Amino acid sequence: MEIGCWEGQSTTVITNGFAPEIIHCVDHWKGDLTNPHSGVAAKASERDVHAQFQINMQEGTAGNYVTHNCDWAVWAKSWTEPIRFLHLDAEHTYDQVTAQLRWAETSLTEIAVICGDDFNQGSVGEAVMDHTGLTRPQLRLPGPGSSNVWATSVRGTKCYPLHELPRSGEF
Ligand SMILES: C[S@@+](CC[C@H](N)C(=O)[O-])C[C@H]1O[C@@H](n2cnc3c(N)ncnc32)[C@H](O)[C@@H]1O
Repeated sequence: MEIGCWEGQSTTVITNGFAPEIIHCVDHWKGDLTNPHSGVAAKASERDVHAQFQINMQEGTAGNYVTHNCDWAVWAKSWTEPIRFLHLDAEHTYDQVTAQLRWAETSLTEIAVICGDDFNQGSVGEAVMDHTGLTRPQLRLPGPGSSNVWATSVRGTKCYPLHELPRSGEF
C-alpha cells in the first residue's frame, strides 16, 4: 500500500516489486492541502496529476494495483484489511505523518514493514523518530540514492531497524 502517489514514480517501482500482489494506491491527487508552503497543491491545480498517474501506471506496470482517490484519513475509516507493507509519502507535516503512523499501527499484520520518503523534509524525520522510538541512523537506509528514504520493520506494536527484526520468541 502507498499513501501519497502523485504521478506514480514510487508507485510503479513498488507495484512492480510486489507483482503479482495488488498494491493499493491512496491519494486525492490535490497536492498538500494543509501545508501552504509546500507548493504541491499549486502544481496539482496546474495539471491533471491523476490522469498522468493513470497513464504512468498503465504503461509502467502489469496492472496489479487498485486506486483509491480520496483523502487518506477518510479512506482509512473504511479500510478493514491487514497491511503488510506501507509506503508513506503524502503530506510531510508532523501531524499528518504521526496520524498515519498511529492509524497504521492498528491495521498492520503481525510482521510488517513501514517506510517512506523525505526523511529530511518538513517534519517527517521528527515524527517518525518520535513514533517508532528509533534513531535517525536506525531508520535510514544505506547506499546511494536512498538518502531521504526511511524504513522500519514492525512486529506486533514494536518498531525495529529494518534488518534487525527479532525472531519469534526473542522479543
Ligand atoms: C510528495 S507527493 C508523492 C510523491 C510520490 N510518492 C512519488 O514518489 O513520486 C505527495 C502526494 O500526497 C498526496 N496527498 C497529500 N495529502 C493527502 C491526503 N490527506 N490524502 C491523500 N493524499 C494526499 C498529494 O496529492 C500528492 O500526490
